[in-house]
Amino acid sequence: MSGLFVTLEGGDGVGKTTQAQLLTAWVEGLGRTVVRTREPGGTALGLTLRELLLHTEGPVDPRAEALLYAADRAQHVAEVVRPALARGDLVLQDRYIDSSLAYQGAGRTLGDGDVRGLSEWATGALWPDLTILLDLDPATAAVRRASGRGEADRLEAEKLDFHERVRDEFLALAAAEPERFLVLDAAGSVDEIQAAIRDRLTPLL
Ligand code: TYD
Repeated sequence: MSGLFVTLEGGDGVGKTTQAQLLTAWVEGLGRTVVRTREPGGTALGLTLRELLLHTEGPVDPRAEALLYAADRAQHVAEVVRPALARGDLVLQDRYIDSSLAYQGAGRTLGDGDVRGLSEWATGALWPDLTILLDLDPATAAVRRASGRGEADRLEAEKLDFHERVRDEFLALAAAEPERFLVLDAAGSVDEIQAAIRDRLTPLL
């Protein structure tokens, strides 16, 4: 059996974690092994990088930020993702290259080309089989974040226009590759969103 690489993308506070938990339980119930993982922080090295990325005080240069995410990604793909796919597992991952394109490429305005090249170099150009984009307007997402969790991390604390650039880029990436992306309105109910994800995934299993 060949592995399947599925990523979840979207802004902060759109409900990726809830959907991933439900999807994992469902796929495991079908008898398939799921490797649930995330970036940044899917390895021991990555956890250290995650701390640096999200909680460093003071300015972090956008290029330094892009390189740290790429370093996390290189380690994660080599240590976790490729071995799992080689075993035939389903890898269900929170965030991947599209997050770098949206946050560093568009949010930090580094542009698509360099950020894409960096991630392709870091991963040997490993792209997901399916990317689920949970789309939500950033103002609504900010309200959800404020009510649901603790203090905002370094990226979450960015202004609304940053998060608007991130959202627009995710939608542009999805429009450019409609065969890879499933775009869902994250304002819908948890059950509706989950049902749409299962429908799209079923023929791939
Ligand atoms: P995430 O783990 O989704 O945050 P949380 O656990 O708080 O839901 O992601 C952490 C942050 O990192 C998020 O704001 C998006 C950002 N990020 C990038 O800017 N570039 C990247 O390449 C990745 C993977 C994440």
